[in-house]
Amino acid sequence: MAERFQAPRGTFDVLPTSSHARAQVHDAAAEIFARAGYGRVETPIFESTELFSRGVGDATDIVRKEMFTFTDQGDRSLTLRPEGTAPIARAYVEHGMHKLAQPVKLWYSGSYFRHERPQAGRFHQFNQIGAESIGSDSPLVDAELIVLLDGFLRELGVPGVRLRLSSLGTTETRATYREELRKHLRAHESELSHDVRERIDENPLRAFDADDEGTKGVMESAPMMVDRLDRDDAEHLAEVRTLLDQAGVTYELDGTLVRGLDYYTRTVFEFESSSLGAQSALGGGGRYDGLVAALGGPATPGCGWAAGIERILLALDELGPAPSIDVFVTAPDGRRDRAFAIVRELRGAGLRAELDQAGRSIKGQMKQADRVGAGRVVILDDEGGAAVRDMKSGEQRELDLARVVEAVSTNGGEADGRS
Ligand code: HAM
Repeated sequence: MAERFQAPRGTFDVLPTSSHARAQVHDAAAEIFARAGYGRVETPIFESTELFSRGVGDATDIVRKEMFTFTDQGDRSLTLRPEGTAPIARAYVEHGMHKLAQPVKLWYSGSYFRHERPQAGRFHQFNQIGAESIGSDSPLVDAELIVLLDGFLRELGVPGVRLRLSSLGTTETRATYREELRKHLRAHESELSHDVRERIDENPLRAFDADDEGTKGVMESAPMMVDRLDRDDAEHLAEVRTLLDQAGVTYELDGTLVRGLDYYTRTVFEFESSSLGAQSALGGGGRYDGLVAALGGPATPGCGWAAGIERILLALDELGPAPSIDVFVTAPDGRRDRAFAIVRELRGAGLRAELDQAGRSIKGQMKQADRVGAGRVVILDDEGGAAVRDMKSGEQRELDLARVVEAVSTNGGEADGRS
């Protein structure tokens, strides 16, 4: 026998049994974004590697060790997108979107790729739904985005949601703060993990994310950026907080919140669910007022978030089941082509209709109708006659095939199981 293949490690197949739940998550997002005036954007699956090293940051774990990078036939270095914000900022610049009315509000949904150690809720290929609002530095933008993600998770019924909020200040205030943090880390160098010690110069803020006891102890007395904000940044944060309070969104101000991407300025936030394990982040984001300029565009503020679809699905107990079939048409061998035509007619009228395609006996076809949850069965007989049976009540009556759509639609009232 030939060798069998498996999906690559860290990837998964989406089968019809789970695709309906995904579609519900997607539809809920589409509805929420439409109401808030966000337009859908799609960018390529791969981009030039340089976009991410410059946009996301050379010192981040994502760029240092998690990217799927390859060289194409033209000797260009390309990377499967690990995130969507840098590509969207690239598209904003490339298409001159700064000439449009600002802010430009965009949403997206698609696959992303990170070479992280696979575990529950962490994959090499995963899916994100996200939003970016580019072109305004108003706190109204930050608050709108947070309210949208909060509403999205609420609407889906994700349990145990917690929101952490902080501010990373501006590049300048952060540079001063970084130096202060480095001094603190150096003063306690022997207590730090090897990894954190190695990156004191390059990325000291990552020490807040370390999970070893030594580093955690050192970070308890570390200075926090949120206490070092300049007046404008502190005011911005205060305004975002007021708007969230007014909207009834509860959050925790958490100065230890650092994000794994270097483009953030000012507001950062993360939604977690207590029903997830170690990978508890449902989604997160923040403001990135320097990103568009770093990618060669005019100085332009921006803010956004992305949420992991697989994490949301994991956290949810269950979404509604896939809608079942309205009508199953059974037929003896001599009338299968008639059944085929009737099914086409029913589908054309907007009904969910099926027929047997596996040569089953009439008894087998009835069983199959039951299996697919058909509300009604149209039964063709050998003599050219037909009947319709309501599967719930078992009631059966003769049927005029010239009026099959009408008969099936009215029999038993509304079609069952349709969403
Ligand atoms: P992120 O926090 O890196 O942010 O990713 C957002 C979400 O994607 C995470 O909270 C998580 O739910 C999901 N996620 C990340 N990595 C994986 C993985 N390996 N497997 C499964 N799910 C994963 C960003 O990507 C930023 N671009 C968000 C943003 C938009 N910031 C501003 N605008």
